[in-house]
Amino acid sequence: MSQMKHIDNTPSTPGKFKIEKSPYNRLRLQFSLAKIIFWSLVFVGLIFVFFYRSPSSSSHVSSDLFRRSLRTSSYGGPAWEKKIKASAKPRSSNGMCVLVTGAAGFVGTHVSAALKRRGNGVLGLDNFNDYYDPSLKRARQELLERSGVYIVEADINDATLLKKLFEIVAFTHVMHLAAQAGVRYAMENPSSYVHSNIAGLVNMLEVCKSVNPQPSIVWASSSSVYGLNTKVPFSERDRTDQPASLYAATKKAGEEIAHTYNHIYGLSITGLRFFTVYGPWGRPDMAYFFFTRDILKGKSIPIFEAANHGTVARDFTYIDDIVKGCLGALDTAKKSTGSGGKKKGPAQLRVFNLGNTSPVPVSDLVSILEKLLKVKAKRLIMKLPRNGDVQFTHANISLAQKEFGYKPTTDLQTGLKKFVRWYLSYYGNGKKSAQ
Ligand SMILES: NC(=O)c1ccc[n+]([C@@H]2O[C@H](COP(=O)([O-])OP(=O)(O)OC[C@H]3O[C@@H](n4cnc5c(N)ncnc54)[C@H](O)[C@@H]3O)[C@@H](O)[C@H]2O)c1
Repeated sequence: MSQMKHIDNTPSTPGKFKIEKSPYNRLRLQFSLAKIIFWSLVFVGLIFVFFYRSPSSSSHVSSDLFRRSLRTSSYGGPAWEKKIKASAKPRSSNGMCVLVTGAAGFVGTHVSAALKRRGNGVLGLDNFNDYYDPSLKRARQELLERSGVYIVEADINDATLLKKLFEIVAFTHVMHLAAQAGVRYAMENPSSYVHSNIAGLVNMLEVCKSVNPQPSIVWASSSSVYGLNTKVPFSERDRTDQPASLYAATKKAGEEIAHTYNHIYGLSITGLRFFTVYGPWGRPDMAYFFFTRDILKGKSIPIFEAANHGTVARDFTYIDDIVKGCLGALDTAKKSTGSGGKKKGPAQLRVFNLGNTSPVPVSDLVSILEKLLKVKAKRLIMKLPRNGDVQFTHANISLAQKEFGYKPTTDLQTGLKKFVRWYLSYYGNGKKSAQ
């Protein structure tokens, strides 16, 4: 009814509409003004919410940086710096002082502990991501804390934090192990590989090139760079331009990026191509680890075979041998030659295979596990899927042998025995099972 009235009162030429000064019209005018103000406020509020929360807007970037700097500043303070200095202090005044990235990871934990044991200063850095059960990373962290190694919880992409760490400690070396590992996961979450293995590596090198003195860098590449190469054993001189997975491609890219930073800025860089590392405190996404879990659970395990019933084999390398290789590479790393972000002369650039030189068929690995666990495995023979895995790996290690006496000493039987002993004690004889 009132709507009808409104239509009746509206002149046909609205521009010439003259407000009558009746009390009723004044009331209507005030009411309309209130409505306009109300809806304007709602509109402004919506715009604010949109720009604040929109993931694609620039405010996302700034809020991200804001959160990051908040996190960084919450790290600061004298107590935090004291912990860092204590962890990074070498036993002797001219001793090595190493920043280990990925320190809560499998290899990082073992390398950090070994460096600390022999008297080097060590500071760890890790973002404790949940690619696999983070409680295992926390348990490794506790282990390291007991031996005096502190792990800063941060991402290698956080340049502000990295610079701050170099302000507190003049690291002589960086052992760069932080990365997104795993071949198959690359099809599920490709951007995590770009984030850690490309952007993170570049960020790390950017910081290393600009600090004074520049540290020497040893970092983990991978045997996966050999990709579809068929010449065996794999030598550092073989072709590495046929990666079979995005993981392998990011590691290969890392080697090229390393070349650039060495060439332009005089950073001393050594890349280590690890071959299927296994052992206590290992990675739950790797076959030897989840085979153990699934054999104990009575679940069937997939064993891949290549075309024409071809054997799939790996050059399984025990963690202690890998650690010796990492220490050897650090000990023979020459100093970087740049300063103030400028190269002063040619710097060392190396790449080494760290393997066992003794490939074992995956079915033999399962037979060893069956004996150690005293449980028969339910084997499910399957075709090797084309999702990044290669048929075999086999390292030629003569270069590492020549350069720093690298000589693996643990065979698969002995190494798996140590792994199974750890697994059963950590997961309580299989009662508390790995995820
Ligand atoms: N284990 C192997 O068989 C093997 C073989 C070849 C190469 N590698 C390489 O060796 C290195 C160590 O491997 P691992 O087996 O110990 O793996 P891991 O996953 O146990 O350790 C990597 C650690 O890096 C951390 N990390 C990942 N991205 C990060 C980031 N952006 N910022 C900070 N921390 C981050 C993770 O939280 C993890 O703790 C990796 O570079 C890996 O690619 C390992």
